[in-house]
Amino acid sequence: MNNYKIAVIKGDGIGPEIVDEAIKVLDAVASKENFNLEYNEFLLGGSAVDVFDNPCPDETIKGCLNANAVLFGSIGGEKWDNLPKEKRPEFGLLKLRKSLGLFANVRPAIIFDELLNASTLKPEVIKGVDLSVVRELTGGIYFGEPREKTADVAFNTMIYTKEEIERIAEVAFEEAMKRRKKVTSVDKANVLEVSELWRETVEEVHKRYPLVELEHMYVDNAAMQLVRNPKQFDVILTGNIFGDILSDEASMIIGSIGLLPSASIGGKVGLFEPIHGSAPDIAGQGIANPIATILSAAMMLDYLGETKAAQRINTAIKNVLQEGYRTKDLASFDAKEVVTTEEMGSLIAEHASN
Ligand code: IPM
Ligand code: MN
Repeated sequence: MNNYKIAVIKGDGIGPEIVDEAIKVLDAVASKENFNLEYNEFLLGGSAVDVFDNPCPDETIKGCLNANAVLFGSIGGEKWDNLPKEKRPEFGLLKLRKSLGLFANVRPAIIFDELLNASTLKPEVIKGVDLSVVRELTGGIYFGEPREKTADVAFNTMIYTKEEIERIAEVAFEEAMKRRKKVTSVDKANVLEVSELWRETVEEVHKRYPLVELEHMYVDNAAMQLVRNPKQFDVILTGNIFGDILSDEASMIIGSIGLLPSASIGGKVGLFEPIHGSAPDIAGQGIANPIATILSAAMMLDYLGETKAAQRINTAIKNVLQEGYRTKDLASFDAKEVVTTEEMGSLIAEHASN
């Protein structure tokens, strides 16, 4: 029987609640498909600051490197907002991504027909949306040096090397080959030198993928096109900060930020997390939507090669939504019954083991 070591980072805010539900579902499909998951918990973000005075302890990095995959919830909260930058939860997550070499973040946004009414956009605009944002995750303005803040002036540096652009472009073209074979590379090449290099490099990598259609789009236009006609997109390839922004936008096409999973890959071990934050305002109330995390767990199983188990989860989510169960974020949309975080997890686990 295959045995997989999973590093679990529940994090802050709603993190623990949603990760618990993902584990419930993972256990259900593991026993069905005959593999074993061994979980080890590590701290990151605010909860790590509280214990170790460090948002990304070495122990956590080591624990992740020793695992086959990392399942992550969310980090952050008001309590830690006023700490110096190196002590803030967000810094911990960035350090972990960097330490694990996770330069590629894949964020699929696939519409559930059952939730067509949950989006603020018209059903006919979003029906059939199936896109994937490939976001560069360990470079760009998030990590560029120099960076500084004084009382009167502050700056960051948006920087990409050719090599960094090449490897993320490869991930995007590979992703497109598995999908509808179209890449939209998003940049701001009409203004930024870093985007000029981005565009040229993506063109070069494209030569190795003649079957894939490539188009370039300025980020402002992309933000507009995403709500005007999201169906035109297959793979969106973009840098760190543009990808951060566009993936939040993409989540609202689907109806709730509580629905978008992500896979961070490129290093020795993949990390799987919902795209949303720790939502401290609703933590502990049992109303968080665990679906983004459960979908992330399914992406993790795909990554581990347990594709049948992953499929079980995806189908189970669809079925539960079809039956009309909704967490509070989706409560007003064709809900038969509004359920708690825990109930949603149990329903999905049950369906997934049928
Ligand atoms: C995300 C988050 C993070 C990011 C924050 C928490 C640092 O918004 O994963 O999208 O900006 O990458
Ligand atoms: Mn974000």
